[in-house]
Amino acid sequence: MRPASLYLAALIHTGTSLAASVRIVHQFPNPTWVENIASTRNGSLLAGILGTTPAQLHILDPFSNTSQDTLLHTFPYSNAIFGITEYKTDVFAVAAGNFSATTANGTGDANIWSVDLSRGTSPNSAKVKKIAYLPRAQINGLAALDSETLLFTDSWAGNIRKVDIRTGKYEVILQDASTAHNVSGVPLSLGANGLKVLRSDPVPSSRAGGSAFLYFSNLQLGGAYRVQIDARTGRPQGRVVMLATGLGEVDDLAVTEDGTAFVARDEANDIVRIGLDGEVGFVSGEHKEIQGPTSAVLGRTYRDRGVLYVGDYGGLTAEGSYIRGGRVTAVDLTV
Ligand SMILES: *[C@@H]1O[C@H](CO)[C@@H](O)[C@H](O)[C@H]1NC(C)=O
Ligand SMILES: *[C@@H]1O[C@H](CO)[C@@H](O)[C@H](O)[C@H]1NC(C)=O
Ligand SMILES: *[C@@H]1O[C@H](CO)[C@@H](O)[C@H](O)[C@H]1NC(C)=O
Ligand SMILES: *[C@@H]1O[C@H](CO)[C@@H](O)[C@H](O)[C@H]1NC(C)=O
Ligand SMILES: *[C@@H]1O[C@H](CO)[C@@H](O)[C@H](O)[C@H]1NC(C)=O
Repeated sequence: MRPASLYLAALIHTGTSLAASVRIVHQFPNPTWVENIASTRNGSLLAGILGTTPAQLHILDPFSNTSQDTLLHTFPYSNAIFGITEYKTDVFAVAAGNFSATTANGTGDANIWSVDLSRGTSPNSAKVKKIAYLPRAQINGLAALDSETLLFTDSWAGNIRKVDIRTGKYEVILQDASTAHNVSGVPLSLGANGLKVLRSDPVPSSRAGGSAFLYFSNLQLGGAYRVQIDARTGRPQGRVVMLATGLGEVDDLAVTEDGTAFVARDEANDIVRIGLDGEVGFVSGEHKEIQGPTSAVLGRTYRDRGVLYVGDYGGLTAEGSYIRGGRVTAVDLTV
């Protein structure tokens, strides 16, 4: 693992609320549910949308003042983009499936697509192909272990699995109380949800060996966890450690090089920062810029180092309608 990132040392921690400047990168029309975001090597952001047929993947330029948004690709046989992860330099795996709040229960099918941006990020230069079809699996969080293996959470089945993208074969690598959902709780029975792999090399290139850490959230249990894994097989090498609990509805998460997690809390309308020392802080934005956050990802270029991008669905009124269209927001943690 690399030394702790410099910007974390500059983070101002004021009790439970973290100082940060919050800027809207892009606001989609109402309703739009931004389900997942990923940052590319040159700073553009991929944003996957839930609830359109066919499912949509957009690309945004967070440095442009004119809020540039481009529909990059639409995916057949699906109404939602779930996890997005870079598994080779400039090549992203995108999970597309069907979402239904009432019937989804782990018996669906999922497709994983490869979106190759190495020739550019316009709809014409992106090369898209299907790389895996997974019957009887529903992918939510997705994280590359290496260039041939992806890990994913099946929130409905309540487990974490790995899939070999050359053969399409998949198997459960973790299924225990930390990944399970609590069917006696809220109606939406979602267990293990967000997923990230923390390794020394931010972009997987080959089967590196050694160990890594798997971070995940569990929506129904309101917790964030991590477990050391074998970086070659993805299998846990120790006990699952609970990083925080009592968080309420948690969604996807970002992890810094020093192991700090930033977890999106859809209902609380904020991001919770969880240090390895157990310290917890919250970012919500002074003017409620973040509503219904689903995902968080760190900037990767020198221009947005220390910036956490947050995707959201716009929040819900008491009557259950969307307050506004989904957004991508930039949270600068270095202020
Ligand atoms: C965006 O706006 C800021 C402030 O108005 C300005 O300083 C900056 O140069 C602009 N950037 C671009 C890419 O136009
Ligand atoms: C999942 O939902 C489908 C459609 O509602 C239903 O046919 C199936 O029996 C359910 N499966 C389980 C394991 O609950
Ligand atoms: C999603 O639902 C549509 C319509 O029911 C169906 O045609 C399609 O095969 C489903 N996709 C997957 C990945 O299961
Ligand atoms: C990234 O590169 C592509 C060309 O490959 C360009 O279209 C896009 O605007 C770039 N993004 C940023 C944020 O510079
Ligand atoms: C499951 O949900 C029920 C009802 O909300 C709650 O009483 C129980 O403590 C939950 N179990 C776990 C393991 O969180």
